[in-house]
Amino acid sequence: MTAAPSLDFRAAPLPSQMQAWVATGYGGPDVLALRHLPLPRIGARDVLIRVEATTVSAGDRRLRASDFPTGMGLLGRAFCGVTRLRRPVLGTELTGIVAAVGSAVTRFAPGDAVIAFPGAAVGGHAEYCRFAETGMILPRPAGMPIKTAAALGFGGTTAMDFLRRANCTAGEQLLVVGASGTVGSALVQLAAKAGARVSAVTSSGNQVLVRALGAEDVIDYAVRDVTAEPARWDIVADAVGALTFARALPILSEGGRYLSIAGGLGELLARPKGSRRSIGGPASENVADLAALVDMAVAGTFRPLIDSVLPFARLPDAHARADSGRKRGSVVVRLDHIERQ
Ligand SMILES: NC(=O)c1ccc[n+]([C@@H]2O[C@H](COP(=O)([O-])OP(=O)(O)OC[C@H]3O[C@@H](n4cnc5c(N)ncnc54)[C@H](OP(=O)(O)O)[C@@H]3O)[C@@H](O)[C@H]2O)c1
Repeated sequence: MTAAPSLDFRAAPLPSQMQAWVATGYGGPDVLALRHLPLPRIGARDVLIRVEATTVSAGDRRLRASDFPTGMGLLGRAFCGVTRLRRPVLGTELTGIVAAVGSAVTRFAPGDAVIAFPGAAVGGHAEYCRFAETGMILPRPAGMPIKTAAALGFGGTTAMDFLRRANCTAGEQLLVVGASGTVGSALVQLAAKAGARVSAVTSSGNQVLVRALGAEDVIDYAVRDVTAEPARWDIVADAVGALTFARALPILSEGGRYLSIAGGLGELLARPKGSRRSIGGPASENVADLAALVDMAVAGTFRPLIDSVLPFARLPDAHARADSGRKRGSVVVRLDHIERQ
C-alpha cells in the first residue's frame, strides 16, 4: 500500500478553537448545534487529525435519537448519558490530514493523509479529532477518493466481523436483509468475494444496485415474504431488524446462523434451536479489519456504497437522511475548509 504524499503542515499554526456539531440532547436532527469548542489537547502518543470528511452513520442517528436496540434502552442511557450524550460530538469514521503529533509519536507526522475510525468513541463531526497513535488510524493510500476513505469503516468492519463470527465459507447460501444499506451493501460485497452465494432482500428500486454489488438472487420485500421461502440459507444476515431469530428459523438450513446485526437483547441472548443459532451484539472494532478494507479498496474488490455527499454545514440534513431508513450506503459529510480549496 502506498501512502499519500505528505504535505508539510508543520509551519501552519493551529487555531485554539474548532467548529463541531454537538448533540444538545436526545431527539431529532434539530438537537444538533454547531458550536465552537477548544481544540482537543494531545498527549505524547496522540495524533491530532484535521478532518476532511466523515459520515453520518446509523450509529450516529441511533445515539442522537436514543434509539437503542430493543431491550438495551436503559443500558444505553446508563452508558451513553441519562439526559444527554456524555460524548455529544458524534461521528464514527473519518478521513483527514494529521495536523499535529505528540512528542512520542513515531508512525505519523504532520501532513500525513489518514483514515481513522473512532467507532463507538465517536468524535468525527468536528474540524479536529484526537487519536491515540495505536488506535484505529491508518495511512490513506495515494489516490483514494476522500468519500471512499471516509466511508470505509462503519459498514465494512461490521460486515467483516459478523461474517467472521458466522464462519461464512465459500459455497454457502447467505441472505442479506437490507442489502442496499451501509452494512448490507458491505455484507453483499464481502460475502460474494468470499465465495458465498448471496441472496438480497431489498425494494424494487434497489434491485439493479444489489445485483451489481454481487447478489445472485433478489427478493423484493414488498412482493415476497422471505419467511415463506424454503429453508435454504446457511446464513441470514439481518441488517434491518426486519426479522427475529424465531422468524428466521424456518428459512435457515441445518447448522444455520441468524446474524442479528440490528437486533436487540432478545436476539443476543437467544439460545440455539437445534443446530441453528443467533449471533448478535456489537461488532468488534479493530485496526486489522480496517487495514484489510483499505487494501481491498485499493485492489478494487471492495467499494463502500455512497448515498450522497453533503457539506459540513448541512450535517443535520445528513442525519435526516439517515433517519429516513432509505439511504443507499453512506451519507458522507465534507468539511467546509476542503470545499473552499
Ligand atoms: N451490531 C453492530 O455492531 C452494528 C454495527 C453497525 C450497524 N448496526 C445496525 O445495523 C443496522 C443497519 O445499519 P446501516 O448503516 O446499514 O443502515 P442504513 O444504511 O440506514 O440502511 C438503510 C437501508 O435499509 C433498507 N431497508 C429498510 N427497510 C428494509 C426492509 N424491510 N427490508 C430490506 N431492506 C430494508 C433500505 O432499502 P429500501 O429503501 O430498499 O427499503 C435502505 O437502503 C442499523 O440498525 C444499525 O444500528 C449494528
